[in-house]
Amino acid sequence: MPPLTDRHAAASQTLQAVGQSHVLTFYDELDDTQRDQLLSQIEGIDWPEVGRLIESYVLNTPPLNLPADIQPAPSYPQQPTPKLEGKYREARSLGEKLIRGGSVAAFTVAGGQGTRLGWDAPKGTFPATPVTARPLFGVLADYINKAQQKFGCTIPWYVMTSPVNHQPTVDFFKENDTFGLDPKNVTHFPQAMMPAIGLHGAQRGKALLAGKDSLALSPNGHGGSLKALHTSGAIADMKSRGVTQISYTQIDNPTVHVIDPLFIGLHALDSAQMSSKMVPKTGPEEKVGNFCTADGKMTVIEYTDFLKLPDKLAYQINDDGTLRFRAGSIAIHIIQVDFVEALNTSPQGFALPFHRAEKKVPCIDLNTGEPVSPDNAGGNSGGKAVKFETFVFDALPLCDNSILYETDRVEEFAPIKNADAPGEVDCPATSKQLQTQRAARWLETHNVTIPRDADGQVNAKIEISPLTAIEPDDLVDADLPKEIKPSESVNL
Ligand code: UD1
Repeated sequence: MPPLTDRHAAASQTLQAVGQSHVLTFYDELDDTQRDQLLSQIEGIDWPEVGRLIESYVLNTPPLNLPADIQPAPSYPQQPTPKLEGKYREARSLGEKLIRGGSVAAFTVAGGQGTRLGWDAPKGTFPATPVTARPLFGVLADYINKAQQKFGCTIPWYVMTSPVNHQPTVDFFKENDTFGLDPKNVTHFPQAMMPAIGLHGAQRGKALLAGKDSLALSPNGHGGSLKALHTSGAIADMKSRGVTQISYTQIDNPTVHVIDPLFIGLHALDSAQMSSKMVPKTGPEEKVGNFCTADGKMTVIEYTDFLKLPDKLAYQINDDGTLRFRAGSIAIHIIQVDFVEALNTSPQGFALPFHRAEKKVPCIDLNTGEPVSPDNAGGNSGGKAVKFETFVFDALPLCDNSILYETDRVEEFAPIKNADAPGEVDCPATSKQLQTQRAARWLETHNVTIPRDADGQVNAKIEISPLTAIEPDDLVDADLPKEIKPSESVNL
C-alpha cells in the first residue's frame, strides 16, 4: 500500500476532476487510522461514473426511458396444460438430475439495509416463522439441508452481504453453527457500495459525509451481485465445484423454494441464461415489478415512481377480467454461471443501468462538520439524498433466452419487508399467516383436519420446518396429527 501522502494526493486529484473535493475537507483533523479509512472508501468508488450519475440524475431531471413497445410477457403455467405435460415431466427430471449431480448452487442476496422493517441487525437474523421464530437465514439453511438429503448431493450456498452487515452476518452464522450446514459449503461475500448524493441546498450534487472520516455509503443494489459474484471469486469457486446454475433468491421470503427442480429444468430445457418466477398481481398497483416483453426482450418494469409501468398499461384488463399485465416479480431467478462469467469478461465490459431513489440520509454539514438531521430535508444544509442502485433483473434483456414460470402466492411468496402495523402488507404478521396457510394446505393433502373460520382463514398457528418437508409429498414419512385444534400452535 503506498504511503498516506501519496494516496491523499491521488484521491484529491480524482475528486477534483469530478467536483467532489469537499470529501477531504476534514482530512487534516483525522488521525492516520481515520485517514486510511476515508481513503480506502474513496479508492473503492468509480468517481467518473459517480460524476456522470450526478450530472444526469441529480443536477438534471432523469429521462424516463420506457421502451417503445411494451407487451405482457408469456409464461409457463403453474400446472401444465395437456400439451405441456410431457415437457414438465422431462423438465422435473432434468432439474433433479442437475441438482443430484451438484450442478446447482443456492444464492441469497442479503445486502439490503432492511430500513422499512426497522430491524437494526441483518434482515436474515429476523425471527420469521409463526411458532418457533426461526430466523430467515435458518429457514433457508434448513431448506438447503433438506434438499441435500433428499437429492443426495451438496448444494453450495453463497450469501451476498454488504460492508454494513457483513461481519454481523458472518458472526450470526458462526453463533448458530452454520445452521447445521458444512461451513466449507457456505460462502459470504460483500457487494460494493455507492455514495449518497445530496439533493438540496449546499449539499446539492455533493457526495455526503456520514462523519469527518467517512462517506455516506449504501449498497449498490442487488444488481451489484452480478459483479460481486465474479470479483469475490464465487464464480470461480462454483466452476471448480462443477456448478452450472445459480438459484437466486432474496433473504426476505421464508416460503421461497430455494431449489426448485421443475423451474431449474424448464430453464435448462429452453437453454435460458436467466429465468424468473412470477405470481399474478393482486391489483394494478401492487408493489412488485412487472414482467413485460419490451421491444421483444424479457424485462421487468418496476413499481417505483421514477420508472413505473404506466397506469394506462397497468390498469388494462383482458376479456375475462384479469389484468393484462398480471405477471408480478417475486425476485426468484435461475442464472447460468456461464452467463455471469460472460458478462464480467466481455471485452466491452458490462454495466446495468442505475436507478435513483430519494432517501433521507444521516450526514454531517459539509462546512461545519456538525450532524444534519435526516428530517431536515429542505433547509440550507439538507439531509435528503439520491441513492443509486442497479437491479439484477436488468440483466434479463441481455439474455438470448429467458423463461418465466408462474407460481402460487401461498406456495412461495410470504415476504417480510415492512414493520407490523394495522392493515400493513408484506410484514411479519402477514408472512406468518401465509406460512400457516401453506402448512395447512400441505397437511390437508394428507387428510389432516384443519380448523378454519367461516371465511376459510386457518384458526391455528402451524409451522412445518423445511427439515420435515420442502414439498407436500415429503410429509408422507412425517408423524402427522389427525387434526389440529382451534387456536393450537403446532410445530412439525
Ligand atoms: C423487490 C423487487 C421487486 C419485487 C419484490 C418482490 C427491487 C428493486 N424490486 O422489491 O421487483 O417485486 O422485491 O419481493 O428489487 N438487496 C441487496 N443489496 C442491495 C439492495 C437489496 O442484497 O443493495 C437485497 C435485499 O437484501 C433483499 C432484496 O435485495 O433481499 C430486495 O430488496 P428491496 O430493496 O427490499 O426490494 P423490494 O422493494 O422489496
